[in-house]
Amino acid sequence: MSIQTILKMGDPRLLRQAQPVTAFDTPELRQLVIDLQDTMAAAHGAGLAAPQIGVDLQVVLFGSGQPNPRYPDAPAVPRTVLINPVITPLGDDEEEDWEGCLSVPGMRGVVPRWRRIRYQGFDLQGQPMDRQAEGFHARVVQHECDHLWGTLYPMRMRDLRRFGFTEVLFPGLAAAEDD
Ligand code: NI
Repeated sequence: MSIQTILKMGDPRLLRQAQPVTAFDTPELRQLVIDLQDTMAAAHGAGLAAPQIGVDLQVVLFGSGQPNPRYPDAPAVPRTVLINPVITPLGDDEEEDWEGCLSVPGMRGVVPRWRRIRYQGFDLQGQPMDRQAEGFHARVVQHECDHLWGTLYPMRMRDLRRFGFTEVLFPGLAAAEDD
C-alpha cells in the first residue's frame, strides 16, 4: 500500500496550475496512479487529483463503479484515470448540489456545475479518451479537474450560507467521513 497524506485547504500546493504529463505509461506515472488509488480508497473518496497528494501533474482518478459511502444516493461512476483533461460544457444548464472534498475534510457546500459536459484527455497508457457525462458523473469530473487548475470547491460557491460541517448538515454521513 502506498497511502499518501492528503493536503488540506490552506496548503499553497493546492493552488497551483498543474503541469501536463508528457510521458505516458512510465513507472513513475504508474506508481502515481497506484498512490492515488490507495489513498482514495482509504479515504472513501469519490475522486482524487494528483495535486492533493502534492504531485504537480494533470492526473485525476475518480469513480469506483460502485456506490460511495460518502455519497450514498449518487449513481456509480466508472473508475477512470484521466490525464491532461479538457472539459467542454454541453449547453448552458447548470445544476447545484452538495459537494465535499478530501482536502476540505468534514465539510459540505452547495456548488454550481455544468449539468452536461464533454471531457477529453488520456488514460495511463496515453490512449485518447472522449466522453460525455451528466449529473453526478459530470460533477465529479468538474470537481477533480478543478484541482488541476488550483480551484477548490468553496471558491466556486455562490452562497456561503449553504456551507457547513457534515456532522451538522448530514449527521448520517459523518461516520463515513471520519473513518
Ligand atoms: Ni476535492
